[in-house]
Amino acid sequence: MENSCMNAMDFRYACKLFNETKTIPDADITFILEAGRKSPSAFGMEPWKFIIITNKELKNKLQPLCDNQPQISSCSHLIIILAAISNVKVESGEVKNRLRAKGMSQEATKHTIELYKNHLKDILNSDQNIYQWTSKQTFIAAANMMTAAASLEIDSCPIERFDKNHIEKLLNLDTTQYQLSLVLPLGYRAEHRTKQVRQPLEKITEFIQ
Ligand SMILES: Cc1cc2nc3c(=O)[nH]c(=O)nc-3n(C[C@H](O)[C@H](O)[C@H](O)COP(=O)(O)O)c2cc1C
Repeated sequence: MENSCMNAMDFRYACKLFNETKTIPDADITFILEAGRKSPSAFGMEPWKFIIITNKELKNKLQPLCDNQPQISSCSHLIIILAAISNVKVESGEVKNRLRAKGMSQEATKHTIELYKNHLKDILNSDQNIYQWTSKQTFIAAANMMTAAASLEIDSCPIERFDKNHIEKLLNLDTTQYQLSLVLPLGYRAEHRTKQVRQPLEKITEFIQ
């Protein structure tokens, strides 16, 4: 079946080397970031931040902190995906702000915050648990950005093989606010793509009727 979403899924692969002479136009970067911004998140908290690096010197410094993977320095734009820590805590006031922004009444906001605190009681008790929860959600934004990029024939590679602490230090991150979740280089391939290898659908699905 011909379908633009599936075409993008088929176009995407984990690109290992980008063409250093090609730069993604600003409008396309905005389109990709919008796909991240529009992604779903638990309680609509949007627990992420995207840092977009085009600076060559900084990319070169980051590459050794990502197991020397050549995608880091050869890409056009390097998206550093951060997972929120402090602003998902009720005491930050952000939870209330987000709920109010959705047009929730004061009463409904109060009720939802109670639900939030109760549902997340085992998560909100440590920054480490919060990171597990929010970084999972950043992967949804990352997936949407990769598919959006592929729809424009822009390549990407999700990268998790990195030295989290050293990158956070290099980027001067306040880790009580945000922590590194995923590194996402974007650009144009400078190699033959690898073949898409997947298990058959029957093996990974089970229908219960
Ligand atoms: C969470 C995550 C982390 C990954 N980390 C890396 C990485 O550090 N380096 C890399 O080259 N590919 C990385 N990949 C890409 C996978 O290796 C790749 O998606 C998988 O082998 C399937 O290949 P395909 O995406 O080309 O179809 C990562 C993928 C995911 C989802």
